[in-house]
Amino acid sequence: MTPFEIRRGTVADAAELAELAARTFSEAFAESNTPEDLDAHLRATFGVAQQAAELADPDVCTLLALQEGRLVAYAQVRRKSAPDCVAIERPVELHRIYLLRSVHGTGLAARLLKEAGIAARELEGENLWLGVWEHNDRALAFYRKSGFKTVGNHVFVVGSDRQTDLVLVGPPLRETDQDAAREHT
Ligand SMILES: CC(C)(COP(=O)(O)OP(=O)(O)OC[C@H]1O[C@@H](n2cnc3c(N)ncnc32)[C@H](O)[C@@H]1OP(=O)(O)O)[C@@H](O)C(=O)NCCC(=O)NCCS
Repeated sequence: MTPFEIRRGTVADAAELAELAARTFSEAFAESNTPEDLDAHLRATFGVAQQAAELADPDVCTLLALQEGRLVAYAQVRRKSAPDCVAIERPVELHRIYLLRSVHGTGLAARLLKEAGIAARELEGENLWLGVWEHNDRALAFYRKSGFKTVGNHVFVVGSDRQTDLVLVGPPLRETDQDAAREHT
């Protein structure tokens, strides 16, 4: 398999990221939403202006994964207040981690998550937290094998549909760093 390259995104990546973000969201959730709700969410969330603003935001870090020069996945962490059930100091949200279906199961998600942890530490985070749709079984399996635990839930709105997201918290990022350091000694 052609290797993946992971790098930090810049505003110059906004157009390609917007396209990938809409495509990966649709691949994942088109079947479980009405076309109207999906379209409303895509229009509100993804577009050159939206992704350019995220890429320029100093409280957000976007990681891009490329294969043969083309974007195939991304992850995004952001410094943002967390729901009350996230009882940790200085939480940073794993806002998004999305791979094209063609690269699921390749180990790329674990590499992106590791880079997301490094970026979250740079944003002074102690732990990553995230929201994941309660019926997203593959993502839940991925997060659980990565050490995340459920701490509560909150509402996530797709178009006009109020859905339940489980809220998960990951292991302390300092421990993850120490594990990484041990691997390299
Ligand atoms: C979530 C995501 C990043 C995980 O990456 P991935 O490459 O698929 O993850 P992995 O293959 O390493 O891990 C998934 C695990 O779920 C398992 N799995 C697959 N389908 C499953 C299902 N329907 N139910 C339960 N477990 C499932 C896999 O076997 C694997 O476990 P294993 O490594 O023990 O075999 C990726 O699937 C993705 O981008 N999904 C679409 C977007 C998305 O849902 N993003 C998260 C939003 S919160």
